[in-house]
Amino acid sequence: MTPKHVENGERATPRWTREQAARIERTDGTVAPIIYPPREAMAPDVHGWDTWILRERDGSIATVDGWRVIFSLTAPAHLLPGKRHDVAEIRYFYSKDGERWHDGGPVFETDARGSRQWAGSALLDDDGRLYVFYTASGRAGEEELTYEQRLAVGSGGTIVADDAGLDIEGPFEHEILLEPDGDRYEREEQYRGMIYTFRDPWFFEDPADGETYLLFEANTPVPEDEGVCEDPVWEEFNGSVGIARSPTGDPTDWRLEDPLLEGVCVNQELERPHVVVRNGSYYLFISSHDHTFAPGLDGPDGLYGFVADSLTGEYRPLNDSGLVLTNPENAPYQAYSWMVLPHRDELLVSGFFNYYDLGGLTLDDVAGLSPDEQLAKFGGTLAPTVRVAIEGDRTRITGTLSHGHIPLESEELPDLPDERLGHRDE
Ligand code: FRU
Repeated sequence: MTPKHVENGERATPRWTREQAARIERTDGTVAPIIYPPREAMAPDVHGWDTWILRERDGSIATVDGWRVIFSLTAPAHLLPGKRHDVAEIRYFYSKDGERWHDGGPVFETDARGSRQWAGSALLDDDGRLYVFYTASGRAGEEELTYEQRLAVGSGGTIVADDAGLDIEGPFEHEILLEPDGDRYEREEQYRGMIYTFRDPWFFEDPADGETYLLFEANTPVPEDEGVCEDPVWEEFNGSVGIARSPTGDPTDWRLEDPLLEGVCVNQELERPHVVVRNGSYYLFISSHDHTFAPGLDGPDGLYGFVADSLTGEYRPLNDSGLVLTNPENAPYQAYSWMVLPHRDELLVSGFFNYYDLGGLTLDDVAGLSPDEQLAKFGGTLAPTVRVAIEGDRTRITGTLSHGHIPLESEELPDLPDERLGHRDE
């Protein structure tokens, strides 16, 4: 049946279909090497996970007085891994060489929106103004934790740098930018499954016409009893990649548009969506979990990608299924929440080091272990960066750089065979 809006000549939202997702399998080209523990934590007594780098409007990595800056969700290292989302705080780290990151401390004072902050992106605008986009989760000051998610920004902070280091100084002005409309994007009260999503704002400028967008993770409302999925149980697996456009280019002024991609009947969480443009092709990447695939589909925690000829084009999955990068079978949760950056003619994929080799335990088994045992299995720092070759709609992992290494396009990549293991000097 042709959907109404297609009959009317409107664009049909591209879909990640069950047929495509049924082709997901680990292959030599999609499995990252096993990673070894890093030598040091991101900061003493701190665990970090989702991470993004300060970029300019055109997506290139920003430098300030020779420093590059990353932002990470962080929590005290004594907390159990599952607890960290309840207290997440954004800290920044800065580096001259893109390998050794110095802890700058929390970005915001206590006035950020939400009872905690989840992932986002960061823009250093042409006029030097800093915008830190984030997900405001819950409400500030709430007594009981809630899971409301709103897209927010803190702007107006100043970056002060010299040869010795870099400081981000407030005050920031905080603003809620977007909430789901209940029509294109599902609201919390509409959701029928585990936990809805409306999060992870990612700033994007389309090089084709200079238009300004915000991408985000969301869910598509699925009406009950209309047989949208063959099996009604699949209907709560309704992830989408949302998008909003700024009519003026102002990074605080957004209008919701139709999603870029939907995974209805397929997967509930299309996380941290972002686009990389190469040779006129638009590569859309998301992270997703094994447990968020609908019943009957079997995909691992992984980085999934799609390609189209324009930002709102007809996305089709990379490597036929979407799978670009996953963890080895014996350490299926070793890394997650990836960010893809172009580097000359290849892609670099940075993620965080999640769980060590669990020796066959499931994450539920791990949650049943003693606190010390659970903590011993959690990485909570940056993973080795993975190098990925790309051609058309095919990708292939070719090696790794060291933990947390984020090179600039102007920097040569090290050419060491043992880099594949994430080690440089062992
Ligand atoms: C992915 C993620 C993000 C979210 C964050 C919360 O790792 O689920 O979507 O912003 O973790 O900790």
